[in-house]
Formats: sequence, structure tokens, C-alpha cells
Amino acid sequence: MTGKDMEIIGIPRAVRDACRKHLLQSRTIGFVPTMGALHDGHLSLLRKARRENDIAVASIFGNPMQFGPSEDFEKYPRDIENDIKKLRNEEIDILFLPELSLLYSSGFSTYINVDIISEKLDGGFRPGHFRGVATVVAKLFNIVDPTRAYFGQKDFQQTIIIKRMVKDLDFDLDIVVCPTVREDDGLAMSSRNLYLDKEQRRAARVLYRCLNEASDAIKSGIIKLEEIKDLMIKIISGEALVNRINYAAVYDPMTLDEVDVIQGEVLIAVAVRLGDTCLIDNMLINS
Ligand code: PAJ
Repeated sequence: MTGKDMEIIGIPRAVRDACRKHLLQSRTIGFVPTMGALHDGHLSLLRKARRENDIAVASIFGNPMQFGPSEDFEKYPRDIENDIKKLRNEEIDILFLPELSLLYSSGFSTYINVDIISEKLDGGFRPGHFRGVATVVAKLFNIVDPTRAYFGQKDFQQTIIIKRMVKDLDFDLDIVVCPTVREDDGLAMSSRNLYLDKEQRRAARVLYRCLNEASDAIKSGIIKLEEIKDLMIKIISGEALVNRINYAAVYDPMTLDEVDVIQGEVLIAVAVRLGDTCLIDNMLINS
């Protein structure tokens, strides 16, 4: 099968049947869930899924459950025609493109909540967000039944929540985490970058600069969290267009708790608002 034959399927049962047919023939399935408006970050996941499996499956579903009432669900970028072209180009075999009512039938009332880590970092600013993510990803895993599923490190918290869920609920698949793909100036690619005007786009470079400078400081021997935090906040505050710092610190990559003394593998993570747009970025380093 080649990507030219990409099947576009909207009905969950039909996707399940198509995937099951492959699994019964001992083919491996690589799965990349997305919300569309595909950029090179998404494409890096799709390419890895394509390379490492017999069958590559993508989904595009703007999941309202993971957007809060004051968030940007309605204006979230959509570009389905171009997305389909890109998926064909990457030789994806099956695109699952469900309508809202087919995934959430009326009376829907079952949710997956990965306790504690879902409340940390972005969870503190986006109540219910990770419950929406975990619930939809569990549904997609149940429908596709992939051998491997691919997620980006850019959303680091999402990756550890999904890994926890897979372990706790005995899903039988591997979670593959792929490196963050960046623009030439270091800004992590994100569908939300489309919201930035020219000045905000320039200002957004401060995230990557902040992570790099924090990383350099840690590698040069600073081990006190407060010192690194002060440095990060100073760098971000130097950018006048940032109107809020949600968090900027160094965390234990398993628990997402701040580490008092920086040693071993740590996560440096930052989230800021530029106008109405929230941008996140992170870096894993070995100190
Ligand atoms: P979405 O934001 O569309 O992202 C889909 C996948 O692409 C996620 O695993 C995300 O981490 C990854 N990704 C985004 N930007 C990236 C970049 N610059 N480099 C590498 N990977 C990147 O994340 C979601 O959708 C949703 O929460 C979803 C998992 C689909 C559930 O609705």
C-alpha cells in the first residue's frame, strides 16, 4: 500500500475494521493523533511513524473537550485541504477524520483523569485540559489499536500523562516521543504561532533564549533553583510584549515538581502569554 491510496475515513467503526484487518495480517500500525493545521513538527512525527511501521495512520480532530470556555477552540487554525495534501505526500495510509458527533455521542459521560500530574504546569492554567486530552487519546487508541503512537516533546506534560495512562489502563502499545522541531530562530513550531503578529513573533524568540541560557547556567555549575528561576524570569521580563509568565522553572521530568537542587536529568520549562496567545517550550538536560 502507498500513500497515494490514502483512505480518508470518518466513521470510527470503519477505521477499527481497516486497522484490525492489518493487525490480523501481523502488520504494525504507527499512529499520529493531531488537531490539524499540520506543520513541520507534525510532519516529523508522521515521517517517523511511516518509517517505523508497516501502516501509518493519522487522525485530525479538533477536540473541544480539551479547550476551556475562554480558550480558542472556535478560532483554532483549520486547513483541512492542505493537511490532506501533506498527509498524502508523507505516504500516510489512513486518515481518521471524525465528525464531533461520531466521537462524542449525546449523553457522553466517561472521562479519563490522570491524577496529580494533570494539575501541574499547564494544568494549573487550563483546568480540565488534560482530562480532555487523555479522554480523546484513549478513545483514539481504542479505535485504531496502534502498535506505536507518536507524540512531540514540545508538549512534554502531555507525553508523560499519556504514558501514565497507557501504563495504568494496560493499553498495549509503545509511546514514542519525538524531538521538538523549531523554526530557524529557535521558536518551537506550533499551530498557535499563526496567531502572532510580526512584533509578537519576534518577541516569541525569548522562550528558546531563556531555555538556552538556563541550560548554560546549569551546565556551568549553578544548582540552586532560585538562581535559575531568577535568571529565567529576568530574561523573559526583558521582553516587553510578554504580558504574563505562567511558569518558568526547573522540574523533575517524572513528577513535574520543581527541583530544589538541580542534579541529574531535569526539565527546564516555560510558558508565557504574548497578547492572547499562550506559548510553551521546554528542554530536557542532563545537569
Ligand atoms: P496537536 O497540537 O495538533 O499536536 C499533535 C502532535 O504534534 C503532538 O504530539 C504534539 O506534541 C506534536 N507537535 C506539535 N508541535 C511540535 C513540534 N514543534 N515539534 C514536534 N512535535 C510537535 O497535541 C495535540 O494536537 C492534541 O492534544 C492531541 C494529542 C491530538 C489530542 O487531541
